[in-house]
Amino acid sequence: MEMTDSVNATTQLMDDSELAQDPFPLYAQWREAGPIQHALTPSGDPVWLVTRYADVVAAFGDDRLSLSKTHSGTGYRGFALPPALDANLLSLDPPDHTRLRKLVNREFTARRVENLRADVVAIADDLLATMNIDTGVDLVQTYAVPLPLTVIGRLLGVPDKDQPDFRAWTTSLMSPASAAEAKSALGKIEAFLRELIGHKRRTPGDDLLAGLVAAHDGGDCLSEDELTSLAFLLLWAGYEVTVDLIGVSTLELLRRPALWATVREQPERLPQLVEELVRVVSPTPVSIRRFAREPLTIGGTDIPRGATVMLLIAAAHRDPARFDAPDTLDPDRDVRAAQLGFGYGVHYCLGAPLARMETAVALHRLATRFPHLALDPESPPQWRPSWRSRGLLTLPVVPHTGE
Ligand code: HEM
Repeated sequence: MEMTDSVNATTQLMDDSELAQDPFPLYAQWREAGPIQHALTPSGDPVWLVTRYADVVAAFGDDRLSLSKTHSGTGYRGFALPPALDANLLSLDPPDHTRLRKLVNREFTARRVENLRADVVAIADDLLATMNIDTGVDLVQTYAVPLPLTVIGRLLGVPDKDQPDFRAWTTSLMSPASAAEAKSALGKIEAFLRELIGHKRRTPGDDLLAGLVAAHDGGDCLSEDELTSLAFLLLWAGYEVTVDLIGVSTLELLRRPALWATVREQPERLPQLVEELVRVVSPTPVSIRRFAREPLTIGGTDIPRGATVMLLIAAAHRDPARFDAPDTLDPDRDVRAAQLGFGYGVHYCLGAPLARMETAVALHRLATRFPHLALDPESPPQWRPSWRSRGLLTLPVVPHTGE
């Protein structure tokens, strides 16, 4: 990653593991220099990055910033999904967004999530039961990845017999060896989801996807493409970021053994700790791209119509104007209403209750099963090379020996 001396000049962003590991000093430099940092994404798209907490909150709520690519003045490229998968909540503005979200909200309820809790505990315990850490283990591959993948499969009602294919395609989509592999995995997932939706139509069940197939609002229901792209969004949004939050949170806690003991001994403190972990980890360091449908001003800086704007959540989370000692992970800090890790406004994360519950369960079951766990001194964790996420490729751990 190239660090320019003069902040505010256009910076070239790179998908690089060093940046994913610790973007905070660079982002602090930008935040101090001004409310907007100009950057070029790895795909060559110019973006206006919003760096300060108050401006990020305001921008999340500003309907002049559209999520629809039709408002892009620069022909934003980013990551191109096939049209049938792209017609989803994160490409739409009200009122189309409102209509879809209303139908989904009816099904994706807090009750449905709470009903999943016992399943999540059982899935976590199954994974942990077969884990032998005596000779060292990679917690990403053995735990942080299979747990959310199994949960999202359960939520969507993927039949057991299809789980191995579903896992293989999803994992190769998330970490493709090549662009061709990503395209092939996308095609297979799309076909699989269409088939699954057809199956739910013929044989109704009580899983979320079956609920969405049947969902009606007056005479309104979801079209075939809307269902397919929504199922894809739930898979995409629901899996990768949760893996990242569980993995990096575990790393942060293992660096602080006293906190690791708290996770095990005082699980009632976990909900608040998970919020603080979302703030400190910033598993989505940057929002989805937005396009200025008309000229606007952010923090005193004029932004032209058609510009691509992204909100630097990771910079906002460490803004000293909002949080005291912002770089400190403080389990006594109550940031539930202040952290922006699940976004804010009409696109607020639909899966936040599930992500919160899953992360708390994952950490609690792990700390209970392995109270004496330590980072492997011989093998440091590897970070995913990405400027859009903060996740681990590996998290090698060993038994903790001695004090
Ligand atoms: C740690 C886990 C998660 C994090 C940090 C996260 C973060 C986010 C963020 C920041 C947004 C808003 C994006 C923006 O406005 O720029 C979002 C939206 C969304 N998330 Fe999550 N998410 C997580 C887990 C999940 C899960 C488990 C699901 C579903 C199973 C999910 C489904 C969605 C959906 C459908 C949207 C779009 C909502 C809309 O546009 O109305 N997410 N998420």
